[in-house]
Amino acid sequence: MSFHLVAETVRQRRTVYSFRPEPLPQELIEELLESACHVPNHKHTEPWRIVVVRGDAIERLADLRVELQRRRAEKDGKPLGNLGLFRAEVSQAAAVVYVVQVAADDEKRRQEDYASCMMVAYALQLVAWEQGVGARWNTGQLTRGALVREFLALGADEEVTCCLLLGYPAEVPPNWSHRPLEEVTRYIE
Ligand SMILES: Cc1cc2nc3c(=O)[nH]c(=O)nc-3n(C[C@H](O)[C@H](O)[C@H](O)COP(=O)(O)O)c2cc1C
Repeated sequence: MSFHLVAETVRQRRTVYSFRPEPLPQELIEELLESACHVPNHKHTEPWRIVVVRGDAIERLADLRVELQRRRAEKDGKPLGNLGLFRAEVSQAAAVVYVVQVAADDEKRRQEDYASCMMVAYALQLVAWEQGVGARWNTGQLTRGALVREFLALGADEEVTCCLLLGYPAEVPPNWSHRPLEEVTRYIE
């Protein structure tokens, strides 16, 4: 079966866990972000704000990741783990893109806006993939807490929805086994 361009990208994209040490050209970053922001958003709220961490700031974010791990281990009374791995997870990225949501007062609006922010994150992964750029979606420690808020200089009404570690893939994981369509689909006729 032959697929159209979008379908092919949707099927082929994989989360990338290791990146080559090559920077992303600024024009490419801008092009990817410009495309990613063309997602559906109800009432045209455009609730996303994009924070790009790049250059020397990547190392500062890697330091922060290590510090967050230290604090968590201390709080939970657990071993520190391999801090070098936590650092490398961040420092190998060519850029880290945060999708930040401007939080509306209204709960329903917040939900819809969150969905749009998720779409920006996904669209960014897709358009990046088409340009040979891989991404790893993160909703873990890098996206939470006061230290991260401070690092990103978030306003009081801004919430991190996720961040994407971006870079040229060193390795692309194999595809995984998806549930057969009939297992997840019901028709009402
Ligand atoms: C909402 C959401 C949160 C995710 N959070 C993380 C995360 O914190 N760390 C991580 O390594 N991957 C995270 N991922 C990536 C998934 O683990 C990944 O998409 C999944 O394993 C399927 O692999 P694929 O993207 O290659 O299809 C997240 C994905 C989504 C959609």
